[in-house]
Amino acid sequence: MKLSAAFLSLLLVSAAFAGTGTDAAVTALMKKMTLEEKIGQMTQVDYEAVKSSPKDIITYSLGSILWGGNSEIVDVTPRGWAECYDSLQRLSEKTRLRVPILFGIDAVHGHNNVNGAVIFPHNVGLGASRDAAAVQKAAEVTAREMRGTGVHWAFAPCVAVARNERWGRTYESFGEEPDLVRKLGAAHVKGLQGASLAGKNTALACVKHYVGDGGTTNGKDQGNTEVDEATLRALHLPGYIDAIEAGALSVMVSYNSWNGNKMHGNRYLITDVLKGELKFRGLVVSDWSGIDQLSPNYAYAVEQSINAGLDMVMITTGPGRPNNYETFIRTLAKLVKAKTVSMARIDDAVRRILTVKMEMGLFESRYTDAALLAEVGSPAHRDAARDAVRRSLVLLKNQGGLLPLRADARRIVVAGRSADDIGAQCGGWTIDWQGKRGPVVTGGTTVLQAVKRSVSNPSAVVHSPDGRLADSGDVAVVVVGEDPYAEMFGDREDLALAPEDVAVVERLAAKGVPTVVVLFSGRPMIIGPALEKSAAFVAAWLPGTEGDGVADVLFGRYAPTAKLPHSWPRSMKQVPVNVGDKQYDPLFPYGFGLTYDGAKALK
Ligand code: GLC
Repeated sequence: MKLSAAFLSLLLVSAAFAGTGTDAAVTALMKKMTLEEKIGQMTQVDYEAVKSSPKDIITYSLGSILWGGNSEIVDVTPRGWAECYDSLQRLSEKTRLRVPILFGIDAVHGHNNVNGAVIFPHNVGLGASRDAAAVQKAAEVTAREMRGTGVHWAFAPCVAVARNERWGRTYESFGEEPDLVRKLGAAHVKGLQGASLAGKNTALACVKHYVGDGGTTNGKDQGNTEVDEATLRALHLPGYIDAIEAGALSVMVSYNSWNGNKMHGNRYLITDVLKGELKFRGLVVSDWSGIDQLSPNYAYAVEQSINAGLDMVMITTGPGRPNNYETFIRTLAKLVKAKTVSMARIDDAVRRILTVKMEMGLFESRYTDAALLAEVGSPAHRDAARDAVRRSLVLLKNQGGLLPLRADARRIVVAGRSADDIGAQCGGWTIDWQGKRGPVVTGGTTVLQAVKRSVSNPSAVVHSPDGRLADSGDVAVVVVGEDPYAEMFGDREDLALAPEDVAVVERLAAKGVPTVVVLFSGRPMIIGPALEKSAAFVAAWLPGTEGDGVADVLFGRYAPTAKLPHSWPRSMKQVPVNVGDKQYDPLFPYGFGLTYDGAKALK
């Protein structure tokens, strides 16, 4: 029997009027739910797995849909995303109880799946900024651009404390030091969730990955974090404490193990610590097929993860594939009927999920707000990202005061593979999961374009990727760095600069051309030769679309203020090297950063 929209809203309003608020409304709704409908709420399905059978959203009353790193929608413009969102959300009105669907996406440095959205610096650059206000602003803009497309749940902030730069996800962390991470993680939550989670331009935060993802041995992604509990609590837990205090209402569990035990099955840390000791009242979601890693016996994996305290399970395969959403629902229902998973555990999970949906106001308004669509990629949003960029650049060297460059320079040669490459500038998690070099997004400015806009005579700027057009008397800006990557594809044993990058710097040095190197990277790299051969060196991290922010620093419109969020190693032999180590002799210490004297800062 399908509840009419009117009856359902009467039910919710009456419970709220009963003065018992959301809790009573949730209780009233849960009383009407079958076991399968409850388990449906606990089921989060990737768009790729359900897009060819959307009616399954109705059949199984699915509670959540995500667009994972590899989910492709046809039209990645803001309007295309809004239409995709609304078309799926409309299906929630066809379910018996009309519970709205919760939509999640990796909006980790802006609404980065959307072509035309503003892409902010990745967290490593925001960590260098040390600027909680800039982080909060970035998250606020991200939430506004998300809601412009309807999407209301960001799988962010990542509050990993990255302790070994071999880790491919180092750039998703604010840095190696827990106090920096906890401060900026909380700011990110406040920016996303705003004053009220029911606001039309706010988004649900998801603090991840719980817990210890940045502490694995050798920085192996999804590896084993081998530390005692005191170290786990001192290094990796603070980000969650402050994020929960800031109001975060979802947490994503990590793939890593703690001393050999997979986090997805860790009842002590999920239920006793997170939900008990930290009094986390939101929902706990798995990572992408994370429960599958617990055991080849799927029923056991489901039992162990749900009993550990997972409330929602991220499922990424569809009909006919192993461990698909229909199998999950059937398996969990059987476990409840066999009493190996209690009804109380199911009810706790569903209560958390429905409470979050109600506090987000999804029952009252579940569709895209067209007024916000126009804001996606707006000049005001780009200005906010440009400000974050200039606050994130760390000046490591400035011999002879080469920087700031003069706007009336006779000739500036802009070289390097990454000088005119918005894809390299943005890094991973940009349109594609892994990101890629080239014109991946429209909007924004590359460093080459930004330099041209900074000089009085644009013809004074010469683009010479390999630097061969440079001559003595010129000044050179060489933009080098990593190819985009994400997650385990970024795990590296060797963090040396690419030979072709070093070659450009050496070629210019041999010509006697004073050179500033701008490095795009997700982490400190081994830069010895390039550092020695250049007069100035700027760590720009992965700044995103607003290359003007880089030029603001290069031309002295903003005197650099950023400080290293990681200790900078001399060689791979030193990695891991972290502030507080007994033997501590990095190339540049944690917190290092030069500035200019005399240049006027913008504000
Ligand atoms: C990925 C990542 C996680 C992301 C999730 C959804 O594997 O570990 O950070 O939010 O899957 O894309």
